[in-house]
Amino acid sequence: MKRIAVLTSGGDAPGMNAAIRAVVRGGIDQGWEVFGIRLGYHGLLHGNMISMGRRDVGGIMQHGGTVLGSARCLDFKTESGQKDAIRVLNQNDIEALVVIGGNGSQAGAHALHLLGFPVVGIASTIDNDLFGSDITIGVDTALNIALEAMDRLKVTASSHQRAFLLEVMGRNCGYLALMTGIAGGAEAIVLPEVETDPEEIAQKLVKAYEKGKAHALVVVAEGARYNAEGLVSYFTEHQERLGFEVRATILGHTQRGGTPSAYDRILGTRLGMGAVEFLAEGKLGVLCGWVGNKIKSTPLEEVVAGKKPLDINLLAMAGILDK
Ligand code: ADP
Ligand code: F6P
Repeated sequence: MKRIAVLTSGGDAPGMNAAIRAVVRGGIDQGWEVFGIRLGYHGLLHGNMISMGRRDVGGIMQHGGTVLGSARCLDFKTESGQKDAIRVLNQNDIEALVVIGGNGSQAGAHALHLLGFPVVGIASTIDNDLFGSDITIGVDTALNIALEAMDRLKVTASSHQRAFLLEVMGRNCGYLALMTGIAGGAEAIVLPEVETDPEEIAQKLVKAYEKGKAHALVVVAEGARYNAEGLVSYFTEHQERLGFEVRATILGHTQRGGTPSAYDRILGTRLGMGAVEFLAEGKLGVLCGWVGNKIKSTPLEEVVAGKKPLDINLLAMAGILDK
């Protein structure tokens, strides 16, 4: 193999830069020329790529986001888009592609693999919902940002005896909400995976005040049926009866933009180097993930078909601790 390319796709995640750096430097160490494709599959379709040297990835690891840029690209979802992408790769003599991203991005990598192009994926998404990796790049940083917000909200909530809702990211997966709630000692946690009755949440907050707590905090995932908007409207409607005022903070993209934690820099580096090793060994059509504290390859076919379950027992555990 002589030339490989790397791209970042879907939602950016702190630690992606460490993975890019490892793929570039690890690939060069193998004697390959490494190309960086800008703006994910969109850039690939437009041949937006540059040859990258060791120095081009210097000083990037401590920055969040991705120096290659990322995108969501509808055209690539079609088979003709995927064939166009392979044509671009062939025209540029690229023999293998590394895809750093989450579920959608790995579905795209799998599609290229099915069409016969050599690919390796790297597990990266703040949502931690990717089958084939116990933890993915960006989760640790995003979680710590959410936790810091929670700690700060607790301070002001206590001063004013207010209830606060903290909405964290997670359209389909409540991992960040669950872990933020556990680490921050929330009075209640609302997840997309669990049907929630808003009155039950309201009663948990009422009980917290009755027990003499000066604050009451609920962590809610954006994808929950009753997210911050839904709960605020329910609580406001019943404010007089419930006897407390509620405020909501929606963290949104602040969670994706942080300085990568040590954990995410190391994870990104190890997965990047792992992907290079897989390519060198001819282990193709796989995801490079972190399983049981080790680098592990999982066929993309299984990654795309698999579902990573959330450990719902942890919700019950949090419930006992916050009674
Ligand atoms: P993430 O990788 O973070 O889950 P997305 O779901 O937005 O982010 O996917 C990123 C990109 O991957 C999409 O914009 C699209 O180009 C590509 N993609 C997503 N799903 C598929 C699919 N089923 N088949 C092929 N490509 C896909
Ligand atoms: O997949 C990562 C993620 O941050 C989700 O948690 C969130 O629902 C989504 O991306 C937001 O996507 P966008 O940046 O396109 O608004």
